[in-house]
Amino acid sequence: MPPIIQVRNLRKVYRIGSEKVVALNSINLEIEKGQICCILGTSGSGKSTLLNQLAGLEKPTKGKVLVGGMNISAMNERQLADFRKKNIGFVFQSYNLMAGMSALDNVAMPLMFRGIDRKTRDRLALKMLKQVGLKSRAGHKPTQMSGGQQQRVGIARAFVSKPRIIFADEPTGNLDTKTTIEVMELMVRLARRYNETLVLVTHDVELADYADRIVTIVDGNVVGDRMNTPKYVPTQEEPSSRKKQGGDPPAEEEPPVPEEAAEAPPAGEPSQPALLEEERQKQKEPPAPSEAAGGEGVADNG
Ligand SMILES: Nc1ncnc2c1ncn2[C@@H]1O[C@H](COP(=O)(O)OP(=O)(O)OP(=O)(O)O)[C@@H](O)[C@H]1O
Ligand SMILES: [Mg+2]
Repeated sequence: MPPIIQVRNLRKVYRIGSEKVVALNSINLEIEKGQICCILGTSGSGKSTLLNQLAGLEKPTKGKVLVGGMNISAMNERQLADFRKKNIGFVFQSYNLMAGMSALDNVAMPLMFRGIDRKTRDRLALKMLKQVGLKSRAGHKPTQMSGGQQQRVGIARAFVSKPRIIFADEPTGNLDTKTTIEVMELMVRLARRYNETLVLVTHDVELADYADRIVTIVDGNVVGDRMNTPKYVPTQEEPSSRKKQGGDPPAEEEPPVPEEAAEAPPAGEPSQPALLEEERQKQKEPPAPSEAAGGEGVADNG
């Protein structure tokens, strides 16, 4: 299988008046499906610029980016918007949740953009909230949650539609050490469970150690690229077990739930309050092995 991300001679120059800033020089990079890849670099090295290029948020000055064989650099804005909504999930440093919306509605939003009906959206969003240990907070607004909880909602939102690639730009930048570990382990666990490609941007070598591969950039150039033995390896049975680090699991942590296809909702689905009750009942069922096979839950992403 060809790499899911292929970057060819990628160059990005910003112009401010007569001044030029070379944010990316001439980047060549390939990232395999299912890899957790860290882009490591100091402030101003070009990490976010690279991420924005990989996600089709900005156009290159030169070169191109292929995702799943598609040349996203040649797409127009409408095609790019469509591409992102079908293929990309984001986790932001500042969470970027919709303040007026509940956790459930925030998580369900990417499914709405994919045209999935309300009941199915709510069911899948609730399931995702359960996987991040926040089922009981489904009705809470972002302001009613801690930073760590908000980021778990952000992670649930990124993963809910099982996009091909999740991009995370300094996802723990606003969190304390303990919460950072919880959030990193959660992202790794979900990425492994769904065989997602995760591209993590950070300046922090400790965080880079969660990745399979560490690509170092300095002044818009790749100066290092090495494989890494990740410090955290999730187990199926104990989703919150820690390999190298101590600490308690998040209080509301729950076992993984079996993968379920969006296109096959159970007949006669219950309303929202009943849905919560249904999820409560499901907790009593033993967790099934959640193989990533068929992990393309709701997607038309092949
Ligand atoms: N929109 C822009 N206009 C002009 N210059 C920009 C723009 N975005 C980024 N740059 C410049 O490009 C370079 C790389 O910026 P980038 O945001 O990618 O760095 P970064 O590695 O993400 O840094 P940080 O860790 O601080 O987030 C910097 O010199 C920055 O000033
Ligand atoms: Mg940045």
